[in-house]
Amino acid sequence: MAVSSAPGKVYLFGEHAVVYGEPAVPCAIEVRAQVGVEQRSDSKLRIHAEDLSLDGFTVEYGGTAGSPPDVDVSESLLTAAMGYVDVAIEHVRDVTGEDDVGFDVTIESDIPLGAGLGSSAAVVVAAIDAGTRELGTTLEIDELAERAYQTESAVQSGEASRADTFCSATGGAVRVEGDDCRMLEAPDLPIVVGFDGGAGDTGQLVAGVRSLREEYSFASDTVEAIGDIVRKGERALERGDIEELGRLMNFNHGLLGALGVSSRSLDSMVWAARNAGAHGAKLTGAGGGGCIVALDPSDETETALSYTPGCRDAFRAELAETGVRRIE
Ligand code: MEV
Repeated sequence: MAVSSAPGKVYLFGEHAVVYGEPAVPCAIEVRAQVGVEQRSDSKLRIHAEDLSLDGFTVEYGGTAGSPPDVDVSESLLTAAMGYVDVAIEHVRDVTGEDDVGFDVTIESDIPLGAGLGSSAAVVVAAIDAGTRELGTTLEIDELAERAYQTESAVQSGEASRADTFCSATGGAVRVEGDDCRMLEAPDLPIVVGFDGGAGDTGQLVAGVRSLREEYSFASDTVEAIGDIVRKGERALERGDIEELGRLMNFNHGLLGALGVSSRSLDSMVWAARNAGAHGAKLTGAGGGGCIVALDPSDETETALSYTPGCRDAFRAELAETGVRRIE
């Protein structure tokens, strides 16, 4: 069996706008998904997952990948997670040329599903890495990131940027603009995450922004304005100017609200963080529910969030310097 882990991420700036070619700056954090892949003697794909913020479950796919599961998976999030693994395993087969090989895949994750912390990207990166290593091939990080991006893109009907998957593969803070992806120097950021216990549907939220952009010119202007904030944010990151980073994160949250991807609980957590003295706070990821990210070196934001109605969990997150980790 080969085992790999990959980190989740928060967006300091630029989610949604990155889908339209604007830059984004996500930052990997030390919450991880770990995937074990073991070759089977038949061609089945059997997926066992625990700790995906849901009860442990097992799904068995008959025959080759792509055929329907032979147990009923009613939870849409679980179905979505399985879809990502299914396509990731197709990439493993493609890289290695072993079309008929079957696998037992075990997923353990500390990253809540669909909550803006890059759970699907982390699972996909770790699954492709462990799967290819199980068959004797170790991918370069760039190819791993590219295959993980192709996987997300296929599952999300072409509506994905390279940001989540590149960040999870490399770790650290990264800058993504179209297919130009690179790592950035980042200071030690005082990141606090608030989680409302919910999730958003990335595909639907991305599609919602797309229709808004087609119908209203304010929405395309908003996407461009987010791009300007990201460029300013990059410079603030280079200078290590946490106050300016926070101010720009606040602007970015307001613009995401204008695009309709915030929610009452995300807004409550953002305001609780700001009122507690955070330098800035914004939703992270696709939105609709899930997580916010705030910058606060003191304990005030974490404490305030833990008393905020609508916040289920608040925690400090360390920057993940390493992306994919080869464990076994
Ligand atoms: C989702 O984590 C981030 C989005 O920008 C979509 C993407 O970049 O693929 C909303």
